[in-house]
Amino acid sequence: MPEKIKVAPSLLSADFGMLRETVRLLEANGADWIHLDVMDGHFVPNITMGPLVAQWLRPHTGLILDAHLMVSNPEDHLEAFVRAGVDSITVHAEATAHLDRVLRKIIGLGIKAGVALNPATPPEVLEYVWPLLDLVLVMSVNPGAGGQAFIPAVLPKIAFLAQRIREVRPGAALQVDGGINMETAPAVIEAGANVLVAGSAVFKDQDGLKLIQAFKTLAGETKAV
Ligand code: DX5
Ligand code: ZN
Repeated sequence: MPEKIKVAPSLLSADFGMLRETVRLLEANGADWIHLDVMDGHFVPNITMGPLVAQWLRPHTGLILDAHLMVSNPEDHLEAFVRAGVDSITVHAEATAHLDRVLRKIIGLGIKAGVALNPATPPEVLEYVWPLLDLVLVMSVNPGAGGQAFIPAVLPKIAFLAQRIREVRPGAALQVDGGINMETAPAVIEAGANVLVAGSAVFKDQDGLKLIQAFKTLAGETKAV
C-alpha cells in the first residue's frame, strides 16, 4: 500500500507581506506542514527569516511548523525557535561538528528532531544517530534558493534512506526538498519519500495551490518501492 504523502509547502517563494493569509490558504488547500526555510547568509548565501516569523504565524495555524535551519552553528538557535512555537527543527549534518549533541538538545527541548543532507552528503552520516531521528530531509537542490532544478542523482539516496528507515527507524519521516513539482514528484514518491516540500511550484501561479492535493493523489497512483 503506498505511503500517505504529506505536503509541506515552503514559504520561501511566498509573498512575505501576506504570510498570515498565505498560511490560511495553504491550510485550506490541504497542506500538512508549513516548511520554514531559515537561512543565515553564512551556511548558505541567502538570508530569509528567523524565529519571529514562526512566532507571528503560530497563533494563526494548527499546522506543523517545520523549521529547516540552513544555518551555521544551529545549536545556538534552538531555544529561540522552540520559544517561537515550531514543532520540529531540522539541522544540516554539514553545519555542525556535534550532530549527536545537537539532536539530543532538540529532543530535550521537547520537539521533533531532523537532519538535512545536502546533495553531495552520503546517507551513512546518519548511521550513529538513527535513534535520535524523527525526520530525514534529503535536499534535492543545493540549499540557498527556491526555484532550482531537481537533482536526480539524489533518487538512489532517497531509496536507500527509505530502506534504512524501515529497518532501523520505522515511523521517521522521509522529506525531500527542492525542485519538487508534478514532473519530479512521482520518482521521489516511488523512491519512498513521504513528505514533499514545494515552494516555487506552489506559489508560481494561481493553480499552484492545487498541487498540494495533486501530490497526494499521485501517491495513490505511484507505488513506493
Ligand atoms: C533550498 C530551499 C528550497 C525550498 C523549496 O534552500 O530549501 O528547496 O524549500 O524550493 P523550490 O520548491 O522552489 O525548489
Ligand atoms: Zn527547506
